[in-house]
Amino acid sequence: MIVNWPERLWVNSPVRRYVQQLEGRFFKNMDKLAPGGTCLEIGCGCGVGARIINESFAPAAIHALDIDVAMLEAAKKRQKRAAWKNIPLQLLTADAQELPYPNQCFDAVFNYGIIHHLENWQKGVAEIARVLKDGGIFFFEEIYPPLYANPLFIRMLDHPRENRFHGPDFRAALAAAGLQLQEGYKESRFAILGAAVKGRVQ
Ligand SMILES: C[S@@+](CC[C@H](N)C(=O)[O-])C[C@H]1O[C@@H](n2cnc3c(N)ncnc32)[C@H](O)[C@@H]1O
Repeated sequence: MIVNWPERLWVNSPVRRYVQQLEGRFFKNMDKLAPGGTCLEIGCGCGVGARIINESFAPAAIHALDIDVAMLEAAKKRQKRAAWKNIPLQLLTADAQELPYPNQCFDAVFNYGIIHHLENWQKGVAEIARVLKDGGIFFFEEIYPPLYANPLFIRMLDHPRENRFHGPDFRAALAAAGLQLQEGYKESRFAILGAAVKGRVQ
């Protein structure tokens, strides 16, 4: 589900950019990803995540997708800036519930807060696991209903109302998809920040 104008204002704000940078640092400290890998960012919005991924992990390729054409246009505009010249970024309009990639083709998948926008979020998690190579890493920041569906935000923001998930549901879906949650993740009743590895048991 695409974001409405109040959320668009938030995701395109300098504060969101700053938060995303802090999360990028957390991901970098959380798990090792060798330079030269191939990365995917789902729900890339206006594209800020790609630069953070590039700076943190020096991948050979970053694929970033979003279902919202307007968001992708903003990302394409940003990509023309001089500072983005050397970022090996390919932008694509696509649905994170039906990833247009073959099995096991990515070293890492990044989710900066988009899975709660999916009607079938379990399919989204399964798709991430499908496109990750064995040993590939899923880095995620995800939020739960007490944050985005509290009495204030439920009036302001558009999110699917059915089939919602909290921490235990999200962690169970990772395990069901064969993604092992790595130690060091941070979770509250509002959100989770962490990494999970395909097939690796700690
Ligand atoms: C909360 S915004 C986050 C944007 C960006 N990742 C960030 O952190 O600033 C959620 C993004 O997910 C995108 N989105 C929603 N449903 C999607 C879907 N089914 N497939 C791909 N992207 C989707 C929205 O268009 C929006 O850009």
